Amino acid sequence: MRIYRANNYQELSRKAANIISAQVIIKPNCVLGLATGSSPIGTYKQLIEWYNKGDLDFSEVKTVNLDEYRGLGKESDQSYVYFMHHNLFDHINIKPENINIPDGKNPDAVAECARYDKVIEDVGGIDIQLLGIGRNGHIGFNEPGSAFEKNTHCVDLTESTIEANKRFFASIDEVPRQAYTMGIRSIMHAKQVLLIASGEDKAEAIYKSFWGPVTPEVPASVLQLHPNVVLVADDAALSLVK
Ligand code: GLP
Repeated sequence: MRIYRANNYQELSRKAANIISAQVIIKPNCVLGLATGSSPIGTYKQLIEWYNKGDLDFSEVKTVNLDEYRGLGKESDQSYVYFMHHNLFDHINIKPENINIPDGKNPDAVAECARYDKVIEDVGGIDIQLLGIGRNGHIGFNEPGSAFEKNTHCVDLTESTIEANKRFFASIDEVPRQAYTMGIRSIMHAKQVLLIASGEDKAEAIYKSFWGPVTPEVPASVLQLHPNVVLVADDAALSLVK
């Protein structure tokens, strides 16, 4: 694993965007695995800036997003499909048909999860997977549990995640209780994983994930077994690491 320590969020975002743009330049038809949450917003802003300068071309890039709240669709400004359009896709020249996100509006969980696994297979796997991390060590919406869930699945969100994500909703009651998420197998099959973490509230998750035992109780810890992980984190997120 390679670790880049950043002094602040801006530096972290620039470094993450650097790594992603290197991928886009080297392989213009690459598959980017993308994430939501507050962590990647700065990275996406930086990519948009470089795109506007003419340094990046997304016309052949394909994307697969990690997850989506079950029940939410693009008409909801809390959905991840809305987030991705608002924070990235609407500002770059990606083709709509090259964008893939689990369909939160599909009530048939079994069918939707199977469809999404097929989507990941059909794009030929992920070249670089961007990840944030939950305070409890979740990646995507792979929550702590007794086993690593391999494939795309419908997950019951934990109290800790509902609590952490309520800031995006009018009230905690509006936070969906379930989500569709890419499984650990797809994340682990990505050729490269880029995990970004900012702030002190991520310090424990980062410490346990990369310096603790590999356990489904801390889902991100499985990344210790991945051959090509880059961790970009600021001082606060690395504060428990000696
Ligand atoms: C959500 C997303 C994750 C994300 C996490 C952390 O639960 N499903 O993909 O990593 O939030 O979000 P933030 O970056 O806002 O702390």
